[in-house]
Amino acid sequence: MHQNASTLQPFNALTSPKHLAIVGATGAVGDQLLRVLERRDFPVASLRLLASPRSAGVSLKFRDEMIPVEVLEAESFDGMDIAFFSAGGDISKKFAPHAVKAGAVVIDNSSAFRMDPQVPLVVPEINPDDAQHHHGIIANPNCSTAIALMALAPLHRSFGLKRVIASTYQAVSGTGARAIEELQNQVESISRGEVVQKEVYPHQIAFNLLPHVDSFLENGYTKEELKFQNESRKILHLPHLQTSITCVRVPVYRAHSIAVHAEFEKPISIEKAQDALMAAPGVDLVDDPAQALYPMPLEVQGLDQCHVGRLRLDTALPNALAFWVCGDQLLKGAALNAVQIAELLS
Ligand code: A2P
Repeated sequence: MHQNASTLQPFNALTSPKHLAIVGATGAVGDQLLRVLERRDFPVASLRLLASPRSAGVSLKFRDEMIPVEVLEAESFDGMDIAFFSAGGDISKKFAPHAVKAGAVVIDNSSAFRMDPQVPLVVPEINPDDAQHHHGIIANPNCSTAIALMALAPLHRSFGLKRVIASTYQAVSGTGARAIEELQNQVESISRGEVVQKEVYPHQIAFNLLPHVDSFLENGYTKEELKFQNESRKILHLPHLQTSITCVRVPVYRAHSIAVHAEFEKPISIEKAQDALMAAPGVDLVDDPAQALYPMPLEVQGLDQCHVGRLRLDTALPNALAFWVCGDQLLKGAALNAVQIAELLS
């Protein structure tokens, strides 16, 4: 495996400790935000944890302190420098304007503002400069898009990306804490021979695949599939990029995988593609099929790096590469990327 350590280091643009708020602190991404801030030694002057009234009385550990969770209100952002939002699009739409009014920079994990022309959509390894042109809100991309782009962006820089055909294999933790529980409960019910309960997904997710992530649109694609196209165009500054994506929910707890077929303007070779990927921060090349070495979701869970492998010349498209990429969507697809954006703010 070729390991590139450069994204393990913080970006270090920060000049002074920041007053931070986390909206959705009790959720799956909120928990990871706390861990990433600790791990990257983010300079924290104060930390305010916000969630719904359901979390009244809960305290969460950050470094050596137990911090009580407060109920999110319009006034929660007074004195805050940066507010991470991870409680869904409706909460972001309602409360982000209050945070901006209070003087905080919002780093939003939801899809609420991603395609707003006033809002930069940033993957720090790819388009860090866009973060400097914000008007109070910076958006964090869709998780599958961020992971796929970690591999596609360095290839684009070398060969000029033209077209992407891809299928995603998305873990249940992308849906939230309740979906993790649903998969676990269904596996246990099946092993006991009991009838499975379905609440989060319309069908049984245990031992099944659901070609259905987010709601369906008139053209037959899902919103998640459209996000991939729109967000890739915005992040890569490629307004005419052509994509056709199929998003699939799989019975994996954590980490997303994507099978990608990418066509380029310039001729591509495996060696040159390997060179581009090996030089890319945040990406490890894991590609030795003879030794059964390739990226897998179980191997990348908890890792900052995305793993890319199964590189081969596409046999159906000209100047095209087929590959497989895995990344921890709670990290690169959410919490890590959000903290990296915060590190870009001076
Ligand atoms: P709570 O735990 O109090 O419900 P996940 O995506 O893992 O399901 O997490 C969702 C996060 O968003 C949780 O922290 C949840 O808090 C928070 N949240 C959901 N609804 C609200 C709300 N109305 N106000 C504030 N936080 C909310």
